[in-house]
Amino acid sequence: MSEVYHIPAMLKETIEGLNIKPEGVYVDVTFGGGGHSRAILEAGAGHLYSFDQDKDALANKIDDERWTFVHSNFRYLRNWMDYYGEEQIDGLLADLGVSFHHFDCPERGFSFRFSAPLDMRMNQTAKRTAADIINSYSEEELANIFYLYGELKNGRGIAKNICRARAQKAIERTEDLVAASRIPAEMSKELARLFQALRIEVNDEMGALREMLLAARDLLKPGGRIAILTYHSLEDRLVKNFLRSGNLEGTIEKDFYGNNLSPFTLIEKGREASAEEIERNPRARSAKLRVAEKK
Ligand SMILES: C[S@@+](CC[C@H](N)C(=O)[O-])C[C@H]1O[C@@H](n2cnc3c(N)ncnc32)[C@H](O)[C@@H]1O
Repeated sequence: MSEVYHIPAMLKETIEGLNIKPEGVYVDVTFGGGGHSRAILEAGAGHLYSFDQDKDALANKIDDERWTFVHSNFRYLRNWMDYYGEEQIDGLLADLGVSFHHFDCPERGFSFRFSAPLDMRMNQTAKRTAADIINSYSEEELANIFYLYGELKNGRGIAKNICRARAQKAIERTEDLVAASRIPAEMSKELARLFQALRIEVNDEMGALREMLLAARDLLKPGGRIAILTYHSLEDRLVKNFLRSGNLEGTIEKDFYGNNLSPFTLIEKGREASAEEIERNPRARSAKLRVAEKK
C-alpha cells in the first residue's frame, strides 16, 4: 500500500461550500483516505455516513461515534439512507474518481507505470475486470469508450490496434495493453487517457454518478447543500447540467414568468484549485468544484 492514501483536493473550499450545520446529517459518498470526512466531522456535523466501494478505504476509519462507514457503491445511496432511517440529509459531498492509493498500488492495474494484471476494479469483488472488457468488447465499443471517456481523438485507430493484437494473444496485463495500443511510451498523456477511459467503463462511473445525483436531489432538505468535485469533462458536464436543471438531461424548465424551476440554487460553478494548491498537490489541477443548494 502507498504511504499516502490520498491528499484531499480543495478541502477548505469544499467544506465552506457545504456550510455544515451543527447536528446536521451529512453524507460523503467517496470516503477514500477520509480527508474530507474528517473535516466534515471537525466542522461539527451531527452525523456522517461515508461510502466507499473499496474495502481498502477502511484502513482510514474514523474513531468517532458520529461516523458510519458504508461499504457500498454510492449508486445505492437511497437504499442505504432508507436502511438507516434517514429520510432527509443536510448535505452531500462527492469527490469523484479514484484515490492516489489506486494509482500508486501497482497490483490494482490502474496505472500504465507499473506492470500488473489489467484489473482496475474499485470494488475488488466486482465481476468484470479491465482485461475482460479489452478482450471481449467489439472494436466499435472500444473506440466509443476511448473517444467518450478518454477524449482520445484517435480512439478508432487505438481500438483497431488492440483488436489486431488480441487476435494473436489475449491482453492480460498493463504492459500488454500499452504495447497493443501502439501509443508510444513517451506519449504519457495519451496512455493516461486510455487507462482513464477503461477505468470509467470497468466501474460504470457515469451510471453510478447518474443514479447517485437523482437520489441526492430527492434526499436533500431545503437549504441542504451538494458539493461535487469532478476530474474530467464528461462527468463535469453531467454534474454542471444536473445542478443547473435538476435533471439528467439538463433541460431547464421555466414557469410562466420565465423563472428557472430548477430545484437548486448554484453556489460554486466550477471553481478550480489555487496555483498554490496545485504546486503542493499537482493531482488537484484537474479538479472542479460545483456546489448547489436545494431550494
Ligand atoms: C478521489 S477519492 C476520494 C478521496 C477523499 N475525498 C479523501 O479525502 O481522501 C474517491 C474514492 O471514492 C471511491 N469511489 C469512487 N466511485 C465510487 C462509487 N461509485 N461508490 C463508492 N465509492 C466510490 C473510490 O474507491 C475512492 O476511494
